[in-house]
Amino acid sequence: MAHHIHRVTGDIYRSTDPVPEDIPKVWGYDFNQGVDHQALLQSFLNTGFQATNFGLAIQEINNMIERRQQPVKVGNGSDDEDPSTCPCLQSCTIFFGYTSNLISSGIRDSIRYLAEHRMVDVLVTTAGGIEEDLIKCLGPVYIGDFTLPGKDLYKKGLNRIGNILMPDENYAKFDEWMMLILKQMLVEQNTQGVHWTPSKMIHRLGKEINNPKSVYYWAYKNNIPVFSPALTDGAIGDMLYLFSAENPGLILDINEDISKLNNMAVAANSTGIIILGGGVAKHHICNANSWRDGADYAVYVTTTQEFDGCDSGARPDEAVSWGKITAAAKPVKVHGDATIIFPLLVAETFAVHAEPTSGKKK
Ligand SMILES: NC(=O)c1ccc[n+]([C@@H]2O[C@H](COP(=O)([O-])OP(=O)(O)OC[C@H]3O[C@@H](n4cnc5c(N)ncnc54)[C@H](O)[C@@H]3O)[C@@H](O)[C@H]2O)c1
Repeated sequence: MAHHIHRVTGDIYRSTDPVPEDIPKVWGYDFNQGVDHQALLQSFLNTGFQATNFGLAIQEINNMIERRQQPVKVGNGSDDEDPSTCPCLQSCTIFFGYTSNLISSGIRDSIRYLAEHRMVDVLVTTAGGIEEDLIKCLGPVYIGDFTLPGKDLYKKGLNRIGNILMPDENYAKFDEWMMLILKQMLVEQNTQGVHWTPSKMIHRLGKEINNPKSVYYWAYKNNIPVFSPALTDGAIGDMLYLFSAENPGLILDINEDISKLNNMAVAANSTGIIILGGGVAKHHICNANSWRDGADYAVYVTTTQEFDGCDSGARPDEAVSWGKITAAAKPVKVHGDATIIFPLLVAETFAVHAEPTSGKKK
């Protein structure tokens, strides 16, 4: 009825205010120009929906990288800043967090690339995100299927992570490898007074694995601290449980690690945060950044939504309200599976800025 009245009076369509010239127009990739993957990825910015968020995430990470190349100002930290906690201060300290399953997946290799070339400064993950990197150096992990029945897999000694299969015998190899290291750690604690923390333990495991395919080998080599405050929630916890039953007394201090992490945020000239998924890895980084009144740059990649109030799904603007991201920042949340999104993000950011010495491009 309303339309009918409008039609009669001739004003169905509202007049549109002039749209400023600098507002981007929508367009997509034209396959008539051939298959140019870089041009295809660059077209995402103007495509709309999550493709546009992906394009904005590329810009945000490139802003972090550009800022990181500026000269470093020393002495930006608090009075209790300990210089030994930030041996390689950058003008933009990049905090990079990811969930365990991403290390189970091939995303481990994108993460290893960033650690190998010291493109990020702090890593934060959960227990599976540590142990599965090490386990992959000891035994293979396979592609399976989401629908493989649990009872059949159990009989075959295969554990399922989504559509990835982890042979149970890999844990026997990990157990054997870990027990010798735990024994040595306990000796060092008792005879040399070594005060172990999760980050020191991960540093040691990275040294011991001595394998260039490992993320934590490169984190050890490049002195990139790795924080994992819930380090006992996985096979590493099983190893500690078994080991401590026979050899009690090994202590891991999460308190020392929180000071180290927060001091890195406080001491930084500026900070950028890149977080794949949610949970502890996400919040630990955001919380540390509240100690400097917020990160300057932020990119989240996640499947989670915010409607249930979970921290995993919270948009960056929720972190702004807590002072975890600065109000001046232009943070980006990309909704989707990081196994697809993250390698494409690396391809358009860190990998194109790689040093010539790395043997990679530009
Ligand atoms: N392989 C494993 O996943 C594994 C192995 C051993 C132990 N664990 C333990 O399980 C616990 C829970 O794991 P967690 O905290 O690492 O994360 P999680 O698996 O609980 O995931 C947290 C959130 O991250 C988001 N997310 C996860 N995968 C994603 C993806 N591919 N793309 C985009 N978003 C994604 C999801 O929205 C999810 O709700 C941890 O304590 C961990 O140590 C996990």
